[in-house]
Amino acid sequence: MATSTIAPLKRPEIKTALPGPRGQEIIAADHKFVNPAYPRPTYKLVAERGAGVWVEDVDGNVFLDANAGIAVCSTGHCHPEVVKVIQEQAAQLIHMCGTDFYYRHMPDLARKLDEIVPVPSPTRTHFANSGTEAVETALKLALHATGREKFISFFGSFHGRTLGSLALTSSKVAQRRGFRRQVLDVTHVPYPNTFRDPFTGQPTDAATVSRQCLDWITERLFKTTTPPEEVAAIVVECVQGEGGYVPAPKEFLQGLRSICDEHGILLVVDEVQSGMGRTGKMFASEHYDLKPDIVTIAKGIGSGLPIGACVARADIMNWKSGAHASTFGGNPVCIAAALKTIELLEGGLIANAAEVGAYLKAGLEKLKDKHECIGDVRGLGLMLGVEFVADRATNQPAPELRDRIETACYERGLLVLGAGANTIRWSPPLILTREHVDVALELFNDAITASYQ
Ligand SMILES: Cc1ncc(COP(=O)(O)O)c(C=O)c1O
Repeated sequence: MATSTIAPLKRPEIKTALPGPRGQEIIAADHKFVNPAYPRPTYKLVAERGAGVWVEDVDGNVFLDANAGIAVCSTGHCHPEVVKVIQEQAAQLIHMCGTDFYYRHMPDLARKLDEIVPVPSPTRTHFANSGTEAVETALKLALHATGREKFISFFGSFHGRTLGSLALTSSKVAQRRGFRRQVLDVTHVPYPNTFRDPFTGQPTDAATVSRQCLDWITERLFKTTTPPEEVAAIVVECVQGEGGYVPAPKEFLQGLRSICDEHGILLVVDEVQSGMGRTGKMFASEHYDLKPDIVTIAKGIGSGLPIGACVARADIMNWKSGAHASTFGGNPVCIAAALKTIELLEGGLIANAAEVGAYLKAGLEKLKDKHECIGDVRGLGLMLGVEFVADRATNQPAPELRDRIETACYERGLLVLGAGANTIRWSPPLILTREHVDVALELFNDAITASYQ
C-alpha cells in the first residue's frame, strides 16, 4: 500500500488481531536478536509505513499516532517537503565529516539556531546525533568553561542513558540499576510538581512548591554537601518529559536563573523533548521568559532523522581544537531535514501546536470531569500529560490502570505512550487537526471506560 493511500484516512482501521501474523514473526525475531533492554510498552506495534498522523503496521492495520515516535516526527510522518529535501541532499552529498572539512549546511543551521534559541546571541552550536550526545556536550562544556565539577539535577528528570547523561537521569530506577557509581558528581533535588508536591505527595500551589524546591538548593544543599562555588551547572527540563509531562512553575525557573547568576553557575535547559514547537512556542523556555546559558536539542528538530545540537553562549563555547567533535554529527542530510523542519514549524506548525493543543487539552479536561480515575490534565501546546489515579479522594497513583488504558487505546487504533509511573503522554505530530483530536478523544474515552472497573 502506498503512503498516499493512508494519508486521507479519517479514522483508524483495525483489521486483524493485534499484533497480526506478520507482526508476530517480526517480534519473535526481534526478541531473539535485538537488545532486550529497550523499554517497550505493554502493547506491541510493528510499523511498516507512516504518512502524516497515520501509521500502518505490517498487517495492514492503520493507527492514529498521538506519539510521533516519542515527540520526534514533529512535521508528521514522511512530510513530503522533508522527504524531498532528504532525497535531493542524499543525491548530492551524504557525508563529509564536518569535524575536518567544511560545508554550508553547518553554518546555515547554526546561524538559524542562533536566531531562534532562547540562549542570548551570539551563540555557537555543536552538532550531535541524539539527545544524549547533546547533553554530553553540555556537561563537558560546563566542566571546561567553569573549571568546576559538581552538577545539580532533578528527581524525575531524563537526560539520556550514556554514562555522563545517565548521572543526571533519575526518572526510573531501571535506568540506573546495575551500573554502580556514576561518572559525574551529581546531586538530585526535588522538582516542583504542583499536582504532587515532592514533600507531601499532595496537590499544592506553584508559589509554595517553587519556594520549597529553591530553598532546598540554597538552604540545604549549598549549606551542607554542595558549596555553590563548586557547582558547574544546574540541568533542568522546563517540562519534565519522561518524568510524566510535568511543567515547572514560572517562578521556579526564574528562581533557578537567579541562583545561577548569583553563584556563577551555568543554567543548562534540556529542550530535547519540549523544543521545536511542541509546546506551542519554538522552545518551552519562551513560556517562562527563561534565558539559559546552554540549551540541548534533538528529537523534533530533524522530523525523524538523527540530529542533536548543543547551543551555548559563544563566550562559553570557546574551547580549543580537539576538545569535542563527532564524525557524523551535523551530517548534511540531517541538516537539510532540520532546516526544512524549522521552516515548516515557523510557517504554521508552532501556531497549530498552540491552537490544536488548547483544543485537545480542553477535551481532556472534559474527560477528567467524567472519569474519576483522571487525577490531572496538564502541559503546554501538544505536550500534554494525563495522570491516572485510583480515585480523586486519595490521588493514589494507578500505574496498572495507565498500562491497561495504553493497551486499550492501541486495540482501538490510537497510539499513545506512558510517561512517569502513571501518566499517559500526548506528543502527536504538530500537524494534528481538530478532526483528528475528536477521533482521538472518542477512542481515549472508550479505552478509559473499558479499562476502569
Ligand atoms: C529531555 C530529554 N533529554 C535527553 C533525551 C535523550 O535523547 P536520546 O534518546 O535521543 O539520546 C531525551 C529522550 O527521551 C529527553 O526526553
